[in-house]
Amino acid sequence: MRLEAWGLSLRPEAFRSKCEEGKRALMERPNEKPHRILLLPGDGIGPEVIREARKVMEAAAGRFGLELQFEEGLIGGAALDATGTPLPDEVLESALAADAVLMGAVGGPRWDNLPPNLRPETGLLRIRKEMQVYANLRPVRVFPALATASSLRPEVVAGVDILILRELTGGLYFGQPKGRFAAGEEEGGERAVDTLAYSRREVERIVRMGFEFARRRRRKLTSVDKANILATSQMWRDVVNEVASEYPDVELNHLYVDNCAMQLIRNPRQFDVLVTENMFGDILSDEAAELSGSLGMLPSASLGDPGRPGLYEPVHGSAPDIAGQGKANPLAAILTAALLFRYSLHAEEAGAAVERAVERVLAAGARTADLAREGEPVLTTAEMGDRVMEALLAEEGNA
Ligand code: IPM
Ligand code: MG
Repeated sequence: MRLEAWGLSLRPEAFRSKCEEGKRALMERPNEKPHRILLLPGDGIGPEVIREARKVMEAAAGRFGLELQFEEGLIGGAALDATGTPLPDEVLESALAADAVLMGAVGGPRWDNLPPNLRPETGLLRIRKEMQVYANLRPVRVFPALATASSLRPEVVAGVDILILRELTGGLYFGQPKGRFAAGEEEGGERAVDTLAYSRREVERIVRMGFEFARRRRRKLTSVDKANILATSQMWRDVVNEVASEYPDVELNHLYVDNCAMQLIRNPRQFDVLVTENMFGDILSDEAAELSGSLGMLPSASLGDPGRPGLYEPVHGSAPDIAGQGKANPLAAILTAALLFRYSLHAEEAGAAVERAVERVLAAGARTADLAREGEPVLTTAEMGDRVMEALLAEEGNA
C-alpha cells in the first residue's frame, strides 16, 4: 500500500491506524485475489477527475481491507493521438480481463472533424458494446446541501432519489443501416440514416433489471417510451407488461418520453426507477442531472450479465474548456467509484462510506466552481478529492 498516493493532508497517525485496520481485515482473508481495476482517464478533465477517484478508492481500500490492483490504458482522443485508433485492441483485452473499468471522459474539439470511425466517441461506444454492458445505471440524488444549487426551486428538488436505467448497447446508437448516402437530385443529393431497432431479448433483460432494482428500492417502476409513434416502443411496452406479471409487488406505470421530460422538472419526486431505451435515456439523464445541481455530480455504472466486468463512467463529458485548470468537479467520478465498489467488487460498505463522505464534505460547505454560488469559496479538483478522502478516513465508528 503506497501512502503517498493517499495525499499529504492526513495526519500520519490517521494513516497508520487506517492501514492497520485494513491489513488486519486482509489477513483474515489471505486467499483473496486483488481486484483488478483498469483506469481509462481519456480526454479533457478525465485524467484529473480519475486521479481524485483513485485517491479516494485507495483510501477506502485501506480502510476496508480491499486489495486493489490498478492498470491504466488509453481511450478516446488520447488513444487516437498515441495509436491512431480510439480504442486499441489491447486496451479492450485488458478491459475484458479486469474486474471493473473506470473511465474518465472522451472527446474534444481537436478530434471533432475526423471521420466517424476515428472519433473518440466511437471508442466509447465500442467498449460499451464489446463489454456487453447493456444496463446503464444513472442514479440521480439531490444531496441536502445542494438543494439550492439546482436551477429549479429547492422545494421541487429536495429529497429527489431517482435511478435512471438506460439501455446502452442497442437502439439508434448501433442500429444498421447507419450513415450518409448519396441520393438523387430531388433529395438534394444526400440522405442520412440511423436505424432504431431492438430485439425482444434486448428489451426483456433491461426491463427485468428495472423491476429488480425497483423491488430493492421504493417498488415503483416507470417505463418510458414513445409507443404512440414508434414500433420499437410498442414492443417495449408489451414486454414491460408481460414481465410485470412476475413483479406484482412493483407498481408500474408507462410514460411517453415527452411527458416524462416535463414531469422530471415538474415533480421529480414522483419517480423511483425509470427504465428506458438508449437515446431517451441519454437525453433524460442530462436533464435529470440538473436536479442534482450540476452534471458534475452524476455517476454511472454500466453492467452486463452477472460475473462480467462493469464499466464505470461519470455522466459528464470531457469539458475541454476547463481541462487542466483544476476547476473540474471530481465528485461524479468519486461517486462512480462508489458504484464500482458496490456492483463490481461487492464491497457495499466501502461504496456506502464513500457516498457518506461526499455527503459530509458537501454539508460542510465544500464546493467546486460548478456548485459554488456568488461569494462562496471555491475548491480545486484536488482539494475536493482531499476533502472526501479525509472525511472517509475520519469517519467515527468505522468498519
Ligand atoms: C453519455 C454521453 C455519450 C452518449 C457520448 C459521449 C457518446 O453523452 O454517456 O451520456 O451519448 O452515450
Ligand atoms: Mg449523454
